[in-house]
Amino acid sequence: MCGIVGYIGDKQAYPILINGLKRLEYRGYDSAGVALRTNRTQVFKCKGKVQDLENHAKGSDVSGSIGIGHTRWATHGEPNDQNAHPHSSMNNKFVIIHNGIIENYSSLKEKLIKRGYTFQSDTDTEVLANLIEYIYLKGEVSAELAVRLALTKVVGAYGLVVICDDEPDKLIAARKGSPLVVGVGNGEYFLASDATPIIEYTNSVIYLNDNDVAIISRDELVLKTIQNDKLTPHIQQLDLDIEQIEKGGYDHFMLKEIFEQTSSIHDTIRGRISTTNKEVFLGGINDVIPQLVNARRILIIGCGTSWHAGMVGEYLFEEFARIPVEVEYASEFRYRNPVIFKDDIVLAISQSGETADTLAAIKLAKEAGATVLGICNVVGSSIPRETHAGVYTHAGPEIGVASTKAFTAQVTVLTMMAMLVGYRKGTLSKEVYQELIAEFANLPEKIKRILDKEEDIKELSKKYMDSTNALYLGRGFLFPVALEGALKLKEISYIHAEGYPAAEMKHGPIALIDEQMPVFVVATKDKSYEKIVSNIQEVKARKGHVIAIVTEGDTVISEMADHVVEIPETLEPLAPLLTVIPFQLISYYIAVYRGCNVDQPRNLAKSVTVE
Ligand code: F6R
Repeated sequence: MCGIVGYIGDKQAYPILINGLKRLEYRGYDSAGVALRTNRTQVFKCKGKVQDLENHAKGSDVSGSIGIGHTRWATHGEPNDQNAHPHSSMNNKFVIIHNGIIENYSSLKEKLIKRGYTFQSDTDTEVLANLIEYIYLKGEVSAELAVRLALTKVVGAYGLVVICDDEPDKLIAARKGSPLVVGVGNGEYFLASDATPIIEYTNSVIYLNDNDVAIISRDELVLKTIQNDKLTPHIQQLDLDIEQIEKGGYDHFMLKEIFEQTSSIHDTIRGRISTTNKEVFLGGINDVIPQLVNARRILIIGCGTSWHAGMVGEYLFEEFARIPVEVEYASEFRYRNPVIFKDDIVLAISQSGETADTLAAIKLAKEAGATVLGICNVVGSSIPRETHAGVYTHAGPEIGVASTKAFTAQVTVLTMMAMLVGYRKGTLSKEVYQELIAEFANLPEKIKRILDKEEDIKELSKKYMDSTNALYLGRGFLFPVALEGALKLKEISYIHAEGYPAAEMKHGPIALIDEQMPVFVVATKDKSYEKIVSNIQEVKARKGHVIAIVTEGDTVISEMADHVVEIPETLEPLAPLLTVIPFQLISYYIAVYRGCNVDQPRNLAKSVTVE
């Protein structure tokens, strides 16, 4: 979704802002803009990509050592030049960039119109720019006070940065519900909606909290609340380096991230699984393990791929720990009237840690008195800060919009959690617990063996590049893998795909099967193997094309299926971690063959920060 960058220092701001906006492209956007400060404030903005913005500004004076930049993902008003940020107030006293949504913008706009304000765009952000200016001029107050007072009148979420024409040597930034990070340099500060644009300049950062306002000049950062209470900035060191956010020789971030799964799983288990002591240790939730052991119920919440990981979690907790689990879409959970007990454990899963619906669901669960745990990838993001305890996935930055390594890292954490709780509870035997621990150590090498089949998978993907529909089937632990396979195909190749529990096919989707329909089946050797073989026969009897993920050495399915991808044998509960990988590669190559923008699929945003 929308991205923010800002710079104040003694370097030229424009290249820093453009570079930063390019780093934020992965978030998804439809227009871009910058405002630069010299002896006046100049705004350049247009619909399209950052490259279009550069073309638009070509030949103009883009000097200035203070500036702000924005990539917009349209919410209020279509993507066009007028609606792009930055927005100027009517009398050009303020320019502003803003992420989030001002929910009461129409009533504020009405009041401002009555006071003579006119508007150039359809955005809620321009309303905020004019509200700040109105308060500033009417009240004859400082820019900072005008911003703080305006924010007390706003309902909604924001991460914003403002420049005032009369106080040009400062940036004023504020956050409520939409993240902002300040990079602390030497006589310079950087601002961004996440750390990716900052990391090449400094590792020292300050994460703003909700209701924080930062008043930033070249040599000073003053932090206070909207109510004017002074705060002490807490400078943290980012554990991130520039290689992690570059493509490193791969054509796309998605492919790089698929290949990183050998190391991301290893990083996720490092220090948590000891093959020598044959133990699992999760420091982040150590104190709540007794509560988990005694839990009457676990509610898992998430969206998209994180919800699919949650589905695997349901099977794992029920199998290992015999705890009933409900997996909920965060967006549904929060808008129904869910029954939440004080002794419920709510487990929120999110790669970005910023998904608005998941955050709102967490708040709801906390208000109801439940213990809320998080599984999150982005260190310092909002979800780990809102939850009582949690476990980071340590998958490293995920830049491709389609989630890949975050999914396997989430499933890895869920598996470790369920094993630990089950073992402590006595519902998972020591023998199986230790067998799982030993097998975890083999997974990176097994993943590598699957990735070594890239060329074969690429070849088979080509055959299905012109499909218009696809069906994904799986059973048990592998049903969520079918859902995830279908989601991956849909989001990056725009082919309609459905994931189904294989046995459910007979209750409807079987009607879709004809000679045009590829059916991707997860059919590894497990307790449902015979059943899934029957499901494959049902598809073949109706002339569907079967592409099956099978266990190495399977001769039965290779006789029936049109294509098989063999994967190394593993323990049944760990199979999602391997079987999903061919699906990720198939989606990737189908999208590439179709000429789709793999890393930035249309209409999608990496983190969905609006509700
Ligand atoms: C799919 C995808 C999305 C996200 C969803 C939740 O590839 O990336 O479905 O999984 O938007 O995002 P997080 O995990 O950041 O809460």
